[in-house]
Amino acid sequence: MSKYYHIITYGCQMNVHESEKIAGILKELGYIPADKPESSDILVFNTCCIRENAENHAFGNIGMFKKLKAENRDMIIAVGGCLTQQIGKADVLHNKFPFVDIIFGTHNLGELKNLILKKQAQKKAVIEIKDSAGIIDESGSPYRTSYPNAWVNITYGCNNFCSYCIVPYVRGRERSRKPEDVIEEAKSLVAEGYREITLLGQNVNSYGNGTDYIRFPELLGKVASIDGKFRLRFMTSHPKDFSEELAKTIAEYPSICKCVHLPVQSGSDRILKAMNRKYTRYDYLKRVETLKKYVPDCAVTTDIIVGFPGETEEDFEDTLKLVGEVGFSSAFTFVYSRRDGTAAATMPDQVPEEVSKERIMRLVELVNAQTRKISEAYVGKTAEILCEDYDAKKKLYLGRDEFGRMGYFSCSENQIGNFVNLKITKANGISLYGEITG
Ligand code: 5AD
Ligand code: SF4
Repeated sequence: MSKYYHIITYGCQMNVHESEKIAGILKELGYIPADKPESSDILVFNTCCIRENAENHAFGNIGMFKKLKAENRDMIIAVGGCLTQQIGKADVLHNKFPFVDIIFGTHNLGELKNLILKKQAQKKAVIEIKDSAGIIDESGSPYRTSYPNAWVNITYGCNNFCSYCIVPYVRGRERSRKPEDVIEEAKSLVAEGYREITLLGQNVNSYGNGTDYIRFPELLGKVASIDGKFRLRFMTSHPKDFSEELAKTIAEYPSICKCVHLPVQSGSDRILKAMNRKYTRYDYLKRVETLKKYVPDCAVTTDIIVGFPGETEEDFEDTLKLVGEVGFSSAFTFVYSRRDGTAAATMPDQVPEEVSKERIMRLVELVNAQTRKISEAYVGKTAEILCEDYDAKKKLYLGRDEFGRMGYFSCSENQIGNFVNLKITKANGISLYGEITG
């Protein structure tokens, strides 16, 4: 009889890819994908803790499965990822949800097979969290679910300790994969037919630090030179390490998408300093200028936090001004969320929620206006879209152009994985609508 698995993933692309690795392990154990959690023999939560609401969301959802577990005692429920890796959180989770069978962290994902076998041999819950990461495990093979895109890790962990951020505490110190492992993986993915490769790291620009490996621009160039038609993306770039050489590399290779995610976080020097970002507003604008010097039409996207401790109206206005100056093609905006254990958690002058909410509304309005303008400029033009998916509700295919703009279109044949030319007929916010042209 078939055994089924289901994975519920929260958070960033790193987690999405780690869920593919978890799926690879479960497949190896003979499990096959279930279309819904209720039909699974093993249900895995891959959690996130970057902001409080991500954590609450996971806690709420796990709680909903108590009844299901009571009805089906043989079902295994496992919880892993960033949330469980926080000091003391595994115990909190176990006490709140004693029906959870396995709790694992970010550093022992590769051991999930053994944890499952252990649980099958014992009645009590298996709770194993490792304090730090070992050497990079290259053994598993992910079961990929993001075709035509394939995620490829280049680094794990982070050494930056931005004062608001919990990532360095739950993902450990930065480790770089060997360049030959990255290149080999990318080569075989292109040969298998993947049409887009996205290199992943918390700060891709510090790839190779502390090793004698090649640096990021060279690695990017080597992956970009792989034979075949595919697109190459990378994320995330820390502005402090964004070099002229990288801008030149982006310009040099047609396969590298002209779209850079460069989180600015704030436009105020005072706040950037308190955030421990290690660049000023001037530095950031200079980096964007350098990028545009080599790649004039490059789209720049960003992340912005409002309501960081001590942020005044004036600081916030500096952020609004910077958004206007750069002309981001899109931006992810967040209200600061206090994370225990980070430096900012104990800073004075935490900003009241209603002030942050009012600020984020103003910011979103500005970002949306810019985004809309960029989309509207597409109307009448042709964009090359890599079709990624089908939206069953809209009954439309969708995909992005090399600048990261999402385009929707209708077609009677399956287009997923194909490059299509779209004549853009309509823009709606961040989305474009068009028709396939010859
Ligand atoms: N509160 C709000 N946003 C945060 N981010 C990281 N930590 C926090 C926090 N404590 C945002 C940053 C980062 C993105 C992935 O999440 O903008 O770039
Ligand atoms: Fe967090 Fe800063 Fe590292 Fe990004 S660079 S993961 S924001 S600590």
